[in-house]
Amino acid sequence: MPAPSTGPATSAALVAEDLSHTWPGTQAAALRDCALQLPLNGLWMLVGSNGSGKSTLLRLIAGLLPLQQGRIRCRLRCALVFQNPDHQLLLPSCSSELLLAIDTRLDRTSRERRLEEALEQVGLAGLADRPIHALSGGQKQRLAIAAALASEAELLLLDEPTALLDPDSQREVLALIRRLTSRAAQPLTALWITHRLEELASCDGAALMRDGQVGPWQPGAELARRLAR
Ligand SMILES: Nc1ncnc2c1ncn2[C@@H]1O[C@H](COP(=O)(O)OP(=O)(O)O)[C@@H](O)[C@H]1O
Ligand SMILES: [Mg+2]
Repeated sequence: MPAPSTGPATSAALVAEDLSHTWPGTQAAALRDCALQLPLNGLWMLVGSNGSGKSTLLRLIAGLLPLQQGRIRCRLRCALVFQNPDHQLLLPSCSSELLLAIDTRLDRTSRERRLEEALEQVGLAGLADRPIHALSGGQKQRLAIAAALASEAELLLLDEPTALLDPDSQREVLALIRRLTSRAAQPLTALWITHRLEELASCDGAALMRDGQVGPWQPGAELARRLAR
């Protein structure tokens, strides 16, 4: 199990150091001297109580917030997947949503191939023309993940992606990310925030976030047991 304090920085997907962030109009810092070293490939989970700074950290990594203090070095192209896919999906159909994510410099055939591949990888093959409003919550979340794949993201940042889903869809989305991060060819790296302790059993390592800082990586099942007590 790689430890953030001792693991070699060269094998890391991402190294964040000394991050502090205070939201405008608030007194307490959301992140304080926070460090994170994310290993390359695999599914890595963060847990922590509400307000511990998890979403702030993901937004900084994704570049959605300006850095106030600290450094982030990331060698992968990243994409953020939100808790609520309705906040993320903008266009009326699956194909238009995915085309938005695909490099416009590709020719039409390549774009269409990438669109089909992205749908197939998330189990939505054949649904290119389906209106977004006719998808289930789980299908919408998988479409958001397909958009990340279509954009050639290598690091998926998932902010409680199963929080709004029914149990079957929760398992499907988790199994999908598990597959993408453990496949033999070009495995992805995922940083997954969760409140569901049972999900920790599926990760390659989990860390507890508390008061704006990330603890050391540990086996997910072990952390889940400790938190359940
Ligand atoms: N948009 C915002 N404006 C002001 N304060 C915020 C905003 N987002 C988060 N915060 C504050 O930052 C702290 C950390 O929040 P957040 O990163 O959302 O934690 P978590 O995702 O772990 O629940 C909390 O105190 C929260 O109230
Ligand atoms: Mg949050």
